[in-house]
Amino acid sequence: MVRRGLKTADHSGRAAQFCVLGRRYRLRMPTFRQDLAGLGAYVPGRPIEDVADEMGIAPDQIAKLASNESPDGPFPGVVEAAAGELATSHRYPDNDAPALSTALSRWLGVPEEHLWLGAGSVALLGNIALAVGGPGTSAVHGWPSFVMYRTVSQWAMTETVEVPLTPEFLHDLDAMSAAIREDTTVVYLCNPNNPSGTIVSGDAMEWFVGKVPERVLVVVDEAYHDYVTDPAYRSALPLALERSNVVVLRTFSKIFGLAAHRVGYAIAQPATIAQLRKTQIPFSISQVAQAAATSSLDDPVEHRRRVEANAVGRHHLLGVLAERGLPHTESHANFVYLRIGEDSMAVSDEFMKRGVIIRPMSRGWLRVTVGNDSENEKFVSVLDELMVR
Ligand SMILES: Cc1ncc(COP(=O)(O)O)c(C=O)c1O
Repeated sequence: MVRRGLKTADHSGRAAQFCVLGRRYRLRMPTFRQDLAGLGAYVPGRPIEDVADEMGIAPDQIAKLASNESPDGPFPGVVEAAAGELATSHRYPDNDAPALSTALSRWLGVPEEHLWLGAGSVALLGNIALAVGGPGTSAVHGWPSFVMYRTVSQWAMTETVEVPLTPEFLHDLDAMSAAIREDTTVVYLCNPNNPSGTIVSGDAMEWFVGKVPERVLVVVDEAYHDYVTDPAYRSALPLALERSNVVVLRTFSKIFGLAAHRVGYAIAQPATIAQLRKTQIPFSISQVAQAAATSSLDDPVEHRRRVEANAVGRHHLLGVLAERGLPHTESHANFVYLRIGEDSMAVSDEFMKRGVIIRPMSRGWLRVTVGNDSENEKFVSVLDELMVR
């Protein structure tokens, strides 16, 4: 018999040892994909309670600035709207999320058939990678950028081609376009980029999308779209309505303060969505989460207030970094990206000991979420304390 396919499974019959209640067990491990052996689990920002316990600091004295969450919580009225759905928890959620789709369609000015909802935009990234990837395909993205582009590509057995950002931490669109190969099926473009916060202008995005062959999907990840106040930036949403190979991703996890609920969405052409959603697990957004997201869209005034508060906080932090002479990027998001020394982990640990949780990246670079005024001041005071040591 001829067997076709990749040699990816681990048939080594490796044994694992466990010790339970003083008894030693030796178990033969099941067969796992060998190509995933090097894939580590996602490392999230540490929860406040964990750090409070370890450092002996009261939880309300800790500033969590590691995960780009909203410092303001859900919008007013959202908790009540979500709680109202708990009594019918024995029913599966409506898979079409009709109320949320209608509200979102109105909020964006986009027909409902152009919307695709999922359990966080990261889940949609996974669906997209599986729908366009597979052995013999490649994905292009900038680096440093959102680490999940690497991970979902690995799930899909897709090779990644990582194109370094320019020295100013901008996407190098010329190099990205040149990196597209015959086997490339997807390009991920994070705008604003996580972790640098830098943007691709509207004009540059149009130019780039025009350069990408129509057979290649361009995923523009706009998780931080709401925070941009620079007029040179424009969402790629109109491109996603016009072209079958452009998908825009957005999330309720950031400005809407619903990270725990896991609601994200894509904007694309209906025929594109029909292909991408084949890899999606049904019932992926709970009724509670649907109600929370729907209710958030009732309050454009609160949305605007948050955009402005973030812009003020970001401006303040960028000013502090400039005054202290610390290398940093021109962020347009709800975080700043800066460098202190060479050892990101050691610096982040020093912040943590003082009750500020930030995100260590690599080679001295750190990502710090714009918090509320007191969280920002706490970050600045610990920064100053560490700089004079
Ligand atoms: C660039 C980017 N895309 C997507 C996400 C994931 O968002 P969600 O919570 O909707 O899965 C994040 C989360 O931090 C992000 O930074």
